[in-house]
This record gives sequence, structure tokens and C-alpha cells, in this order.
Amino acid sequence: MFYEIYPRSFADSNNDGIGDLNGIKAHLTYLENLGVDAIWISPCYPSPQKDFGYDVSDYENIDPMYGSLQDFDALEQAAQQDKIKVIMDFVPNHTSDQHKWFLDSRSSRTSAHRDWYIWRDGKGPGQPPNNWISDFGGPAWTYDPKTSQYYYHYFEAAQPDLNWRNPAVKDAMFDVTRFWYRHGVAGFRLDAVDTLFEDPQLRDNPLLDGKNEFGDREMVNKFNDNLPENHVILKQLRTIADEHDAVLVGETWTDNISQLKEYYGAKNDEIQMPMDFMFTTVNVLSASKFRAQIALQESAKEWPVYVISNHDMQRSYNRYGDGTHNDQIAKVMAGMYLTLRGTPIMYYGEELGMENNDPTRREDVKDPLGQAGWPVNKGRDGERTPMQWNDSTHAGFTSGTPWLPIPASYKSHNVATESADPNSVLVFYKNLLKLRRQNPALLDGEYIPLNQEDTNVLTYLRRVHHGSEAETVLVVLNMSASAQPVQVNLSAQSIVSSKREALLTTLGAAPSTNPADPIQMDPYSVYIAKLTR
Ligand code: GLC
Ligand code: CA
Repeated sequence: MFYEIYPRSFADSNNDGIGDLNGIKAHLTYLENLGVDAIWISPCYPSPQKDFGYDVSDYENIDPMYGSLQDFDALEQAAQQDKIKVIMDFVPNHTSDQHKWFLDSRSSRTSAHRDWYIWRDGKGPGQPPNNWISDFGGPAWTYDPKTSQYYYHYFEAAQPDLNWRNPAVKDAMFDVTRFWYRHGVAGFRLDAVDTLFEDPQLRDNPLLDGKNEFGDREMVNKFNDNLPENHVILKQLRTIADEHDAVLVGETWTDNISQLKEYYGAKNDEIQMPMDFMFTTVNVLSASKFRAQIALQESAKEWPVYVISNHDMQRSYNRYGDGTHNDQIAKVMAGMYLTLRGTPIMYYGEELGMENNDPTRREDVKDPLGQAGWPVNKGRDGERTPMQWNDSTHAGFTSGTPWLPIPASYKSHNVATESADPNSVLVFYKNLLKLRRQNPALLDGEYIPLNQEDTNVLTYLRRVHHGSEAETVLVVLNMSASAQPVQVNLSAQSIVSSKREALLTTLGAAPSTNPADPIQMDPYSVYIAKLTR
């Protein structure tokens, strides 16, 4: 299991209100006990923090607010001792406008780095080169009076896109990955990989009806998203990764399964772990919808990478919660994404049932996306609040003033309180992750859907073969608010079992061990059992 750490919000060691690398290091034992195999640290490089680190001004250093390169090395070494791998976030699409490359690039039309970014003349006075819009609202072009040209930015104006058609950019960026491999990192999470290349002719995108949440005209990003050239770069990054035995995790937003499959590479020579974000488009707790989404992923016959939330998305606790049974539902979600085939990526605090704490006033919004989209889009501050360590002031995150406010529910939902409660979300996660680690069927087994007509309960097997013997685990997840008797139909899969032994359950009453008997599933409940012959 991979665990995403948003470094500003994990643990603050020097009490300036912002998390840091020493804070992460101080909590490695917690992560080890939870069952984390690798931590992905969101960007902690020097940055003006316009997009909270995704605007990098130096790829080969650590921002002083998070510590130093020495602190990073110390964290890396401590993590190795705890058998936790460290994955860095690599932001190849754009730099900060304060990066020395961009400062030089914008200084004159003939500067050494001019062609490291995408500069063009406007179509006419006050008219950008084409109709492309920024993901953060407004045109994707900003006019720079110094040289009377526009520069291109898929995201914020402070995040100019690098020109990946320039071999010098490629070389410099590939070297950045080598720099971090030398510092011991086990791989990268690749940011915004679908936007590396743009149409060389910069053709206008086709328009759609209506306007988006920023008031811009809807369009198909035909000429600046998902260009085939992206895959060439990813394959080259993979070649370098292979030299270091490293893993590449992709922020791969895709519309369909064939697009996702492409990211693995036809010869498995691209990204080992492209995230399945189509899974996150299921925004209701629905057995049928999840079953269909899993089937789609399984149809690719690749190694799945499921996520249910991250620093760009409302927390799963709120997305799936009904307001009354949120803890039970959090366990059902864990029971699903941690028992499916593949490598799940967990967002910090998910294991506690941390909830969103969205800003209520525009002046409180820190995220540029929320500032541009208010009030329709309140931005991403709500899912980035400090980790909840205990029930003391500021949840034990800092003794200073935390950079974002902590939701009131930290009083009950925190590491210390939940560790002492056998029925907490945290203890459930721990038990489940421990089971997953020890159980070959859950780790490597095939996924076999059962009871496919059931709209309330998601039921499946995970099965692994050792020679002629099979090890089989049954997973039953009641995603509905009512009790459900579940008759598991094993014969359809020609599975012979005489005994069903619970491995982990949230059920009030233990079901019969006879596989022929129905399982009485409580509302929003989990039952995981071993089937023996
Ligand atoms: C990715 C990051 C997001 C950031 C954007 C621009 O989508 O996950 O947080 O704003 O890239 O770098
Ligand atoms: Ca700090």
C-alpha cells in the first residue's frame, strides 16, 4: 500500500504551522505500524507556493519551510530502516514562474532559455495565440510586456509550461530524476502527465455548448491534452527508472480504459502504476457502479492502481458518507479498495475517517483554484487540512497556528483516540492492512466477481493457486442502509468449500461457517472470510 503525504499538513516539527520533513520522520513508526510500504510525498521543493508546491522553482533542493536536503537524506535513511520506500512527486509539465529557467526565458527573445517555454505572438492586439483555456480559469496564455509575446500555461499563470519539444528541456528534466535516484528515492509520482505536449500548430480547440465553473466556454482539449508524444517521454523516463529499479506512478486522468491501458505500455515499458481515476468518478456508494468500474479495470488485464481520494478531491469520508453512518461507510470503502487486486494508494488521514473542512468565506480560501472558482468551486483547502494526531489543541499537528483550520471532528477522529478504540476506523484499517500483507490471495490473487445481480452488496473472491491447491478469500460488502441476507453462489465458479472462517468483519453476529448458509449482512458492513475445502 502506498500512502500519500501532503507535507504541509502531516506534522509540524518546528511549530511554524506548516508540516515538514522532520515531522514526517518523527511519525515513521506510525506509518510502519499502519502497514505502509511506500510514502509519496507531494512536492516539497523550493516553491513560491502559488499552487502549494506544484509550482517548483528548483527541482534539486528542498524548500526551507520543509527542511533541507540533509533532512531529506535523514528521512530517507530512517524510512529505509522501517522498510518504507520514499516516492517523490515529479512535476514535468511546468515550472514556477520564479524558476531560474523561466526568469531567463522571459528576459529577452534571444535568451538561452527562451525556447524552454512556449512563447508566441498574439493573434492581434490583446488577443492570445489561440482559444485554449487554463485549468484554473481564464486564457491559457499570459502576455508578457517585456518581450511583447504570450507564454502558455495549462494551469495557473505562475506555472508556465515547459517546452518538451526542446531536447535541452528533456535532458535537464531527466537529470532531475537521476538526482533524486542518487538520493535514494524509490520512484516518482508523475504530475499532470497528459499535458506535456501541445499541438505544434497550436490549433484552436473545438468548442462545446455552455460554460465551465470559471465562466469560460466549454471546449474539448483536443490540441493540448493527451497527445501521443506524451507516451514517448514516459517511456524514456521508464528506461531511466529501470536503471534504478524504481517505480513510476502516474497522475493519469483518462476517459476510457484503453487510454488507461496505453499508459502501461504495450510491452509494459511505460508507467508501472497509472492511477485509475475513472474509479473516483463513482461518487455514490453503489455496489453495481463499483462492480462495473472494477470489471472495466480488470478487462485491461494490467496491475490496477485504485485511489479513493487525494489532495485534489473531496475526502472519501464525505463523498461516500451519508452523514449518519460515515464510520461504517469508511470501513466498507476500505474493505473494498484494500482487498481489490492491485496496489492501492491511500491519502493521509483516510485511515482516521478525516473529513473535509471547506472554507465558508472567500477571504479564507488559500487554494488558487478556490479563489478563481468561488463560490461554485471552493477549492481544495478542505481536503488538505492538518493530520489529526490527538485530541489536544490543533490535533497535535502543531503548537503554532496551523496553516489551515482543523475540522471539529478531530476530537473523536484522531490517531490517539482511535488507537484505543477497537471499533474505530483506524483499528479497522490496521487490521485490514495486516491481513492483506499476510494473505497471498489478497496480495496476488485473481479477482472473481460473484452475485453480480445484487445491487446492494458487492461480493467477490480473491484466489491464488499454489500448485494444485487454491487459497480463496471471500469479500462481502454491504453498501446499503438495510440489512441484507447474502447467499453466496460458489458453484457457479465451481468452487468447492466446506468451511467459511471469518478473517475480518464488522458484523454484530458471527455468521455460520457453512458456506451454503446465507450471511446476514448488517447495514453498511464488511465480511471477509477464508474458504477452505
Ligand atoms: C496536479 C496536482 C494538482 C496541481 C496540478 C498542477 O493535478 O495534483 O494539485 O494543482 O497538477 O500542477
Ligand atoms: Ca514546520
